[in-house]
Amino acid sequence: MRRPEILLFGLVATLSGCDFLFQSRTELTETTGNEPVPPVTSPLTTSQTVTPTLVGKHVCRECHEQNYQLHLHSGHASTFATTRDSNLAQVFAGKTADAGPAFGQFKYEMSSDGLQVSRLSDRNQTAFPLQYVLGSGRNAITLLTLLPDDEQGPAGLEHRVSWFRSHGQFGLTPGHVHQSPESANDFLGVTVHGTKMRECVHCHTTSGEIVDQQIQGLIPNVNCERCHGPGSEHVRLARQMETPPPYSVGVDKWDLESELQLCGSCHRLPRNVSINELRNYPSEMLRFQPIGLLRSACYLESDGQFMCTTCHNPHMDSATKSKDEYIQDCRNCHLPDTDEHVACPVSPTEGCIECHMPPSQFEQGMVFHDHWIRIHETD
Ligand code: HEC
Ligand code: HEC
Ligand code: HEC
Ligand code: HEC
Ligand code: HEC
Ligand code: HEC
Ligand code: HEC
Repeated sequence: MRRPEILLFGLVATLSGCDFLFQSRTELTETTGNEPVPPVTSPLTTSQTVTPTLVGKHVCRECHEQNYQLHLHSGHASTFATTRDSNLAQVFAGKTADAGPAFGQFKYEMSSDGLQVSRLSDRNQTAFPLQYVLGSGRNAITLLTLLPDDEQGPAGLEHRVSWFRSHGQFGLTPGHVHQSPESANDFLGVTVHGTKMRECVHCHTTSGEIVDQQIQGLIPNVNCERCHGPGSEHVRLARQMETPPPYSVGVDKWDLESELQLCGSCHRLPRNVSINELRNYPSEMLRFQPIGLLRSACYLESDGQFMCTTCHNPHMDSATKSKDEYIQDCRNCHLPDTDEHVACPVSPTEGCIECHMPPSQFEQGMVFHDHWIRIHETD
């Protein structure tokens, strides 16, 4: 069989300000001599390109069972659902939560349409629907309801109360502490508008667009194709030949730049924070791992060899990897007895994470590991 000729490649799709970054190769192949020969086009013209579409993670599973299983147990796979379909929403069902004197007490009930909330101090106890659950519960679960569009476009109410794993209880949603209510909706939560609202859905789903208080074309969660791009062409070719042509972000392999853009499009990049935050690295930045990582000497001085996947399997729940395995990642570079990298004068073989990437508390007891890898004064 002849080697397939690459006719067209390098289609970079960039949606919503570069958020969704992937590159896919589309190859047209000749299988027998009898088929019409496709017209030769310049690699730069896109008119002949078959635009790949989304096929869904169950199709990927057919051939990639292992990655499917790993992904299934990661936070990426359960970070968005309707309250009607989600087991996570059951954490609220039938409970009451005290949001403090400013907001009062809330009561939650499950109906056939999903979760509903009412305020106990509201004499009529009007039920307000809570449509979506965000967060896998590894750290927290937050509820969201779409509101009628306003002048800034789509709007949504981020509910006042979230559930936190750290204390196994309800508490104020992060960022809500200093809010004071003016309208009925203000008691129930914070209204998110326009781009911020769209991005909220965009970062927690594979696809979906807010239209009339619903999400059209919703594929919840950060699934395979959210990172790898639409897979229909890959699947079509993989079914035709033993080794389908390379399909991935970047050209053949993920490189540092494409990977940081991908992970950072949700986990945040320097462009998503203010200059002051970049300069002063306040504790809120702990939540944005790429911001810290980009300041680390490991990243700055390792010539493109240091990225998220140096330590993380992007398909896997990061907490299920053992401390020893993370230490092994450090030791892959910082070996004692080599000239290539410096080793630790304090503890050359163990305890790296606690001293150089210490876990730190965030609002409501949520814990993040400081990805600015450095020598801490308190060490
Ligand atoms: C489309 C947005 C998006 C992209 C792209 C993305 N993430 Fe995430 N990531 C999330 C969200 C949302 C969560 C929170 C999941 C939850 O609710 O627990 C998360 C959680 C995580 C976690 C912690 C939870 C766990 O299961 O381990 C790790 C580690 C992680 N992401 C690594 C990565 C890496 C590495 C990349 C790039 C290869 C990446 N992510 C790309 C949105 C994204
Ligand atoms: C720019 C992308 C982005 C946007 C916008 C975004 N999130 Fe997230 N969200 C993430 C990532 C990445 C994580 C995982 C890291 C983390 O835990 O902060 C996450 C985690 C979470 C979690 C799990 C708790 C936690 O902090 O780990 C909840 C709940 C959540 N987001 C809710 C929301 C809601 C509600 C909105 C919109 C009102 C929103 N997010 C907007 C990217 C985003
Ligand atoms: C958060 C982003 C993200 C998600 C979600 C994701 N991947 Fe990946 N995947 C990556 C990255 C990054 C690499 C490159 C890893 C590396 O080079 O170490 C990769 C590599 C791969 C590879 C080749 C290497 C290997 O591990 O075999 C396959 C196959 C793959 N992914 C399939 C899948 C499937 C199937 C799913 C869904 C069940 C999925 N991916 C979900 C980011 C993701
Ligand atoms: C019919 C089988 C089949 C299906 C379905 C399939 N793949 Fe693959 N895929 C392969 C084969 C074969 C390879 C090449 C050998 C390998 O790396 O395992 C591959 C390789 C990959 C790679 C490695 C990168 C590269 O360029 O080789 C990624 C990433 C990937 N597939 C993602 C996906 C995603 C995402 C889906 C679902 C949209 C999917 N695959 C569905 C068979 C399949
Ligand atoms: C890809 C290689 C690589 C990996 C993996 C790596 N580092 Fe580094 N790190 C470097 C380089 C390069 C430097 C700069 C000094 C040198 O050349 O060794 C550095 C510097 C450091 C420094 C000194 C920081 C400073 O500001 O002076 C510390 C501490 C450190 N690394 C800890 C770690 C820990 C802990 C891990 C694992 C979580 C780790 N490194 C993983 C490459 C790496
Ligand atoms: C040098 C190794 C290393 C690199 C590189 C790295 N991480 Fe991590 N990351 C860790 C360790 C260690 C943990 C803590 C895991 C645990 O024990 O729960 C962690 C945890 C996380 C978590 C869970 C929340 C938290 O902060 O504890 C997220 C999300 C995450 N990493 C995202 C990323 C992203 C995105 C990148 C790339 C920008 C990245 N990481 C690069 C080592 C690394
Ligand atoms: C008990 C805390 C502690 C542990 C555990 C620890 N370190 Fe360190 N490390 C330090 C301190 C403190 C320094 C600064 C020492 C100095 O300047 O004399 C340091 C320095 C370093 C440096 C910079 C050395 C130089 O010459 O610039 C590297 C690299 C490093 N550590 C890597 C690691 C790695 C990798 C591990 C795990 C195998 C580790 N450390 C475990 C506390 C620790």
